[in-house]
Amino acid sequence: MTDCRTLEPATGPFQAGVNTPGDKSLSHRALIFAALADDESEITGLAPGFDVTSTLGALERLGLRRDGDRFMPGHTAVDPGQPIDCGNSGTTMRLLAGSLSALPFRVTLIGDASLSTRPMRRLVRPLGALGSDVALSPQGTAPMTVGEASLRGADIAIDVASAQVRSAFEFAAIQADGDSSIDSPAGYRDHTERWLEAFGLGASDGTLMQINPGPVPGASYAIPGDPSSAAYVWASAAIVPGSRVVTPNISLNPGRLGFLSIIEAMGAEVHGEVTGTLHGDPVGTVSVGGAALEAVEVSGDTVAAAIDELPLVAVLGAYAEGITVVSDAAELRVKESDRVVSTTAMIRGLGGGAEATEDGFAVVGTGFLDGGTVDAAGDHRIAMAGAVAATAAGGPVTISGASVAGVSWPTFYDTMEAVWSSR
Ligand code: S3P
Repeated sequence: MTDCRTLEPATGPFQAGVNTPGDKSLSHRALIFAALADDESEITGLAPGFDVTSTLGALERLGLRRDGDRFMPGHTAVDPGQPIDCGNSGTTMRLLAGSLSALPFRVTLIGDASLSTRPMRRLVRPLGALGSDVALSPQGTAPMTVGEASLRGADIAIDVASAQVRSAFEFAAIQADGDSSIDSPAGYRDHTERWLEAFGLGASDGTLMQINPGPVPGASYAIPGDPSSAAYVWASAAIVPGSRVVTPNISLNPGRLGFLSIIEAMGAEVHGEVTGTLHGDPVGTVSVGGAALEAVEVSGDTVAAAIDELPLVAVLGAYAEGITVVSDAAELRVKESDRVVSTTAMIRGLGGGAEATEDGFAVVGTGFLDGGTVDAAGDHRIAMAGAVAATAAGGPVTISGASVAGVSWPTFYDTMEAVWSSR
């Protein structure tokens, strides 16, 4: 079999300090702010995976220039003529839909097979309110064409807690002729909102964000580590009593901390300390220690704040005692794979018990998984959650389609094996 990776279970408790790759959400946003800025920006610690390369590549084709860590603005300079490929990255496509709305020409965004099935219609009403014409396939998917809009201010409310939709709106709204506002349910990651506030381009009151257009300043961005990547390391430590991992310099935006609250509720030892901020967004150190885990029920606002980590909750649920239930998470069905299906298939493929529900899943906690094969289903988060499941399994775990981990963490498997052998 090609593109497989087999992981042997850890041989006992481990203790490790781990530097995780730069935060993906912040990397996309820093690049977009740099492209829209009126002056040069400096960005260090950009996320290394394919997704952020897609955003960088798209912006470079439109005129952003890079010299090492220095980024010279420009996103209206060049009409690429050809469609721009967003690869596997929903964040690239959705954030660019907003930031490119005011281009002086129309541009078409395309993606890979997975991205081409993901829902984009959710952008049409919010961006349309600002005067942007978002053209989609009849199915409401990519190819997506935007641009040539004369943007005006608008006040809207959306019914999903989607940071991507909010950010798309906000990136268009800062280029509009007039003030705007957006409201939504809570739980979303508010990175864009915090940076807009720091740059004097808006103000938030709870979930309501006011956007006041103005020049975007060039800025310096030291991107912290990604909590959604650190989550794999935290989860692995949580499974093995006596293990501990310490991850410094992690984004601690409240909209990213749902997973830590979940594992704490399951019994893991969690310590977090804020050590600084990046333009108003908290950054700090997290340590997680293993324990005998108990089942948990996850629903409501916590779902949005842990949305990318829910496959890991299933793995922890299998190693816990009791039945772990995730609900209110229908959004899982439209991620890089249908994660209700791929997550329950992963647990079953490793000898555990899992049932899909309409808006989530239930996992039977036996405290044990046999090992076996996991089909990554073209989804980086399933590949990596499957690898974490190897931590205390009865036998090796083989990930089929393993290289998709490169979407967010190219050296993930090597790091995980090194963590397991650290004492
Ligand atoms: C992201 C927001 C989330 C998350 C995605 C990244 C972002 O999506 O799942 O991986 O950077 O804004 P939604 O906003 O659709 O919930």
